[in-house]
Amino acid sequence: MKYDFDKIINRDNTFSVKYEERIRNFGTNDLIPLWIADMDFETAKPITEAIKKRAAHGIYGYVSKPDSFFQAFCNWQSRRNNWDIDRNLVSFSPGVVPSLSVIVNEFTDINDKVLIQTPVYPEFYDVVEAWDRIVLENKLLEKDGVYSVDFEDFENKLKHGTKLFILCNPQNPVGRVWSMEELQKMTALCIKYNVLIASDEIHADLMLWGNKHIPTATISEKAGKITITCTSCSKTFNLAGLQASFAVFPDKNSKDKFDKFWKNLEIHRNNCFSIVAMEAAYSEGEEWLKQLIPYLENNINYVRKYCKANIPQIKPSKPESTYLVWLDCRDLGLSNEELNDFMINKAHLGLNSGNNFSRSLSGYMRMNIACPRSVLEKAMKQLDSAVNNLNGGIKSNYIRGE
Ligand SMILES: Cc1ncc(COP(=O)(O)O)c(C=O)c1O
Repeated sequence: MKYDFDKIINRDNTFSVKYEERIRNFGTNDLIPLWIADMDFETAKPITEAIKKRAAHGIYGYVSKPDSFFQAFCNWQSRRNNWDIDRNLVSFSPGVVPSLSVIVNEFTDINDKVLIQTPVYPEFYDVVEAWDRIVLENKLLEKDGVYSVDFEDFENKLKHGTKLFILCNPQNPVGRVWSMEELQKMTALCIKYNVLIASDEIHADLMLWGNKHIPTATISEKAGKITITCTSCSKTFNLAGLQASFAVFPDKNSKDKFDKFWKNLEIHRNNCFSIVAMEAAYSEGEEWLKQLIPYLENNINYVRKYCKANIPQIKPSKPESTYLVWLDCRDLGLSNEELNDFMINKAHLGLNSGNNFSRSLSGYMRMNIACPRSVLEKAMKQLDSAVNNLNGGIKSNYIRGE
């Protein structure tokens, strides 16, 4: 069937964080929310049908996790990523962030060093610091809006007592799809210095422009032995509210350690809707995803072209994956505080502040473009007019580096 991603769906009164926490987050409801990473699109029909069928049953008692649930996940990985997973080494978890948090807690000790590559999803800082571990930052190098790994710094940080490396593959917010060569280099160094890898692959299905995801655990046999992969189809199919994800382990010991943590908290069951929804997603959702990707690509192209033609002071990235566009706003000449205030109160846009992704960064914002095009068009017009009104109505012609 043909899906209509242009359709505007009112999300009011659904407890949507993106909409209903605008006041808490931005101090106003008067803005277009393009922040937290979920989509304003209806998910695939087989998923909504599976949930409706389950809901119609009327009994929502305790459920076990059927083998078919895990098998659907394994089949997806095998079919799409050439990754043959031992089903016995897959665990359930209520979310990728919870998994990362448990890995930090279970596989490192207090005051241990954990390496992350910034700018990165802010929860990477949070899950490390929550358990009194120390964050080491391997800052990504940026050249003309393209990011790469600073391998010299990476190795230096690994050398000096890093226990765990949390890798974002593909990367949020800069949208990089790490190449085979980059992954080989990163994993080889982790093997050399005996560093465990937690690979967050939650955005892996959102490959743009024909890119191909390479699971970190498949880089080599040795890489597979030091990698725990945390993933889900919650980003892919807009199912974050169902709270379900997978963790794939290199061996039974590490899986048991992880499972025990959840068991001790008595958190070891899914909700009944996540099982049927994710099974349907992995088994029958591909057609929807195939139609989603070009829609996202067109939205990204639109934002980039619009800025180039009308707001050259703002330079949007071209993500290789994800529906998140990283905006370089440094040419606006605003401090982080001023930039936030500008986006909220002048452009009336709810974006994520760049310095949440790297604490020392200034002049960046992250924009979620997974919304109908008409919403994005309105957002860009608002941004254009706000930039026009900066500096007393004179649009700055200053472009950094030119
Ligand atoms: C890199 C990354 N990991 C994890 C998450 C959230 O995962 P979960 O909702 O499964 O905890 C996000 C959400 O944006 C993300 O971008």
